[in-house]
Parts: sequence; structure tokens; C-alpha cells
Amino acid sequence: MSNLRGNNLYFDVAATTPLDVEVIEEMNRINRNNFGNPSSIHQFGQQAHNVLERSRKNISKLLSCHESEIYFTSGGTESNNLALKGILKADNHLITTSYEHPAVLKVAKELMKEGVNATFLKPNQNGIIDPIELKKAITPKTKLVSIMHVNNELGTINPIADIGEICKDSGILFHTDAVQYIGKGPLNLSTTPVDLLSIGAHKFYGPKGIGILFAKRGISMKPLLIGGGQEKGLSPGTENISLIAGMSKALDIAYNKMIENSEHIKGMEQKFIHSLNDSNINYKINGFPRLSGIINVTFNDIDGHDLLMNLDLRGIAISFGSACASGSAKASSALLETGMLKEDAKKTVRISIGKFIKKKDIDTLIDNLKKIIPCSKPKGEIIEQ
Ligand SMILES: Cc1ncc(COP(=O)(O)O)c(C=O)c1O
Repeated sequence: MSNLRGNNLYFDVAATTPLDVEVIEEMNRINRNNFGNPSSIHQFGQQAHNVLERSRKNISKLLSCHESEIYFTSGGTESNNLALKGILKADNHLITTSYEHPAVLKVAKELMKEGVNATFLKPNQNGIIDPIELKKAITPKTKLVSIMHVNNELGTINPIADIGEICKDSGILFHTDAVQYIGKGPLNLSTTPVDLLSIGAHKFYGPKGIGILFAKRGISMKPLLIGGGQEKGLSPGTENISLIAGMSKALDIAYNKMIENSEHIKGMEQKFIHSLNDSNINYKINGFPRLSGIINVTFNDIDGHDLLMNLDLRGIAISFGSACASGSAKASSALLETGMLKEDAKKTVRISIGKFIKKKDIDTLIDNLKKIIPCSKPKGEIIEQ
């Protein structure tokens, strides 16, 4: 890839992560040795079946849940679709939020056409859903609450345990889209009051096109697709065991190195923020409390899309809006939902820091930001917001 500065720096791990080398090796090994269909009775099938069930067992151990509660899907999108469409029917009430990923937001809007009633809670100015607002929205017809764990644009962490307790006390099912959280921080599914939870492997250095829907035992769901009986009929189709084994390996690595990685990422983020403070770049970081590594930042003196394009020319990748909508220069609707002004949202980008980022990469990013952004703030002067 050619660019102005010969850089090759990726600050967009919230969009997707590169594969861990061990994950590639594991997938290659499976692809070479296990081509069988896990549903076949002969030895080829049984070998593939063993890979499938070994992966399920490993993942359930890491997430502290039962093997029967793990459903392999094609990723976060399918998991979210299955959780909502599999549970809700006409006349049910759904409570979700106005800043969910489209794989929840658009599904909720689609379900409304089929007679489902929906309430969309707005995040507060910090980008958090207030559990009190959830409590107020519950009606006798509320069947499901779907509130994301970590917001993909702001990195803000919702109070999942409090939300889950409210749902439990009211006898309502609770689904959370944890695609941006899993692999980054601890979660014990045997003690957290969550009924359904979505996971996508490509956010934790695993392969794309594979994910999980965790669903507590006893929950009855209808499938999105009709076919063979795989995944107890809820995600039918011959299983891709190399993707599944790759996801299991990636989750292994994420859990074994969780503390080390999160401390490293926190350190890189602090260095980035300190360097911005020491510069005369006029900026503001949005959202609190936040998961380290997803930094939503407004640069007051440049359009976000222009900044993305300028950095890209210099070989540095960041994000403007969400990945699914990139290419458009529209202000992010998730940011507008927090009450951010449109003119500020247009100057806001997402810089996401992964485990492979080094101190010198942060220095390169800062040097390039200083070169690109015209600075209105004389060094040391505090600008009134
Ligand atoms: C919060 C959230 N939910 C769902 C998805 C979709 O996941 P997948 O790409 O695995 O379908 C994403 C990915 O961008 C996400 O960030």
C-alpha cells in the first residue's frame, strides 16, 4: 500500500481486528485436517464434530456458562437478529435504545411493522443509558429489553448488571449486544443477570463471519432460517468448524492476556491524551465511563471526514461514523442521540487502539495530527467550550 509517509498504522480496531497468528495457524490446521461435516456419522464427520464440541466447551468455560447455552452464528449481526426476531411477536413491547448498532436498531424498526411496539431510550449526554429511564418505560406488555454493553462509536459502558436486575425483577428477558466488550474485560455469565448476549469474533482478533448468541437454558426462540437441525435448529446450515475453532482460539488468547492487554491499551490511550494536552490541538473527548481503547474525539478545527482522508493519505487509519456507514460524510446519528450538535458531530472521529499499537505509533499519530489540524488554541491557553 502506498501513502505519503510510508506509514501502515491501524487505529480502527473497533471496526475489526487483524487475526492473531495462532488463530490463523489453528484455522489452517483444521482446514487441512478436518474437512468432514460434523453431522456425518463416519469418522470424518466425528472428527469435525469433536472440533465443534471442543470449541463450544472451551468457550462456555471462558464465559462461565453451560455448553448448551452457546449457539454459533455468522456473527454479531445474526446474533442480534436472532435475539430480537426469535423472541418478539406482534403485540409484544420491546425496550431498546436509540444508539444501538443497526443490527438491533433496524431490526426493531422492522419488527414494528409486524405489530411489535418499541420504546427507544436515549443515552444521556455522557453516552450512557440511565436504568431509571428503563424502569419508567416498562409496561405489562414488555417482553424484551435490548441494550448494548459497550457503544461502538463512543466506547461508553452501560450498567449492564443494574439493567439486568431491573429486567429480572420485572420478569422481562434481557438481551445485550456485547460485540464491542467481549474479550476486553471480564464477564461471568453465571452471575450476570443477562438472558441473551451477542458476540462477534472479529472484534477480538478472531475471524470474520462467525459469532455466538448466548441464550440461557429454557428460553424459547424461533429461528431466522429453516434448514437442518444444526445449533438446535436456531442457526441451521453445515457448521464452519475452522471459523469456530479460530474463534475459540482467539477467545482463549483474549482471556489469557486480558489484564496485560487492557493495561497496555490503557497506557497507550493515556500517552495519546497527554500528548494531545501538550499540543495546541483543540479537542474534546466524548463519553463516560468508557472502555479503554475506543476514543471518540471532537477536533474543533477540522471536519472529521477530511481528517480521516488526510490521515489515510499518510497511511494512518481511523474512523468517522460507524464502519458500516463509512464513505458517507454524514454526522453520526449515535452522537446526535447524546445531544451533540450536528456541527460538532461532523468534527468527531473515532480512534480505536488495539493491542499491537506501540508508543512510537502514538507519536506518529500525534505528529500527523499536528501537521493536518489547523490549530486555533495557542499552546497553554484554555479555550472556553
Ligand atoms: C456493537 C456492534 N454490534 C454488532 C456488530 C455487527 O457484528 P458483525 O460484524 O460480527 O456482524 C458490530 C460490528 O461492527 C458492533 O460494533
